[in-house]
Amino acid sequence: MLERRSVRRYEREPITPEQMDFIYEAIRNTPTSYNGQQFSVIDIDDQAIKESLYSLTGQKQIKTCNRFLVFCIDYYKITMGAEAKGVEMPEFPKTADGVIVGVVDAALAMMSTIVAAESLGLGTCPIGYARTAAPDEISHLLELPKGVFVVCGLAIGVPREQPDLKPKQPHDLMFFHNKYSTENVTARVLAYDKIIKEYNATRSGHKTDNDWVTHMLGYYTEAMNYNILAALENQGLGVTR
Ligand SMILES: Cc1cc2nc3c(=O)[nH]c(=O)nc-3n(C[C@H](O)[C@H](O)[C@H](O)COP(=O)(O)O)c2cc1C
Repeated sequence: MLERRSVRRYEREPITPEQMDFIYEAIRNTPTSYNGQQFSVIDIDDQAIKESLYSLTGQKQIKTCNRFLVFCIDYYKITMGAEAKGVEMPEFPKTADGVIVGVVDAALAMMSTIVAAESLGLGTCPIGYARTAAPDEISHLLELPKGVFVVCGLAIGVPREQPDLKPKQPHDLMFFHNKYSTENVTARVLAYDKIIKEYNATRSGHKTDNDWVTHMLGYYTEAMNYNILAALENQGLGVTR
């Protein structure tokens, strides 16, 4: 995990069925809230579907990777169980915690996949645009029933590149001892900002003069245009309380 980086270029070589079985087993054993396993994974190897997802998201890795896994919140399965037993399903998927539970479970399942894939020497890249770029179109394309919502995609393939490791926040900015401390946070943020600016100016491949803070704010500003609440509601989830 200390050598993990997002890999965006892949060999044509396929992932073997044995490797996929190993990844599936790692996913199945993911810890989940209440052991409810409030997630499902759509494993896509159909090139036509990958191309459609590429045209909806603009993320090239989706069409060049060997497998594209889509991690979804899933309350459809338990709803079917409740219906079959004649028990009323609480409106938990329409609460903030219901959404958080599903997002955490799906995200942990994605991380299980990343760890398992790394251990096999495979490369991965999460694709958040699978959620944000065109949520309604992607739900339709993947035929998601109500109660199912895309959290993130993950491209997996045999690596064709080994990008530089990105410098992450240093210990004194990321970890706190026993309690949160706001002391010196600003100075530490600015020190990290400088590290990233230097990294972006000198890294191999595409160099930029981006710093960290303004670059992140640019992403957040762009993300203000996503209407994820409406997309959640269209899939039978949401945040009523
Ligand atoms: C939830 C999530 C969504 C992401 N979405 C995308 C994406 O849509 N496209 C992309 O190229 N990288 C995406 N990434 C990869 C990040 O850009 C990458 O993890 C980050 O720059 C740190 O680099 P590293 O993974 O090499 O350490 C995503 C990562 C995460 C965790």
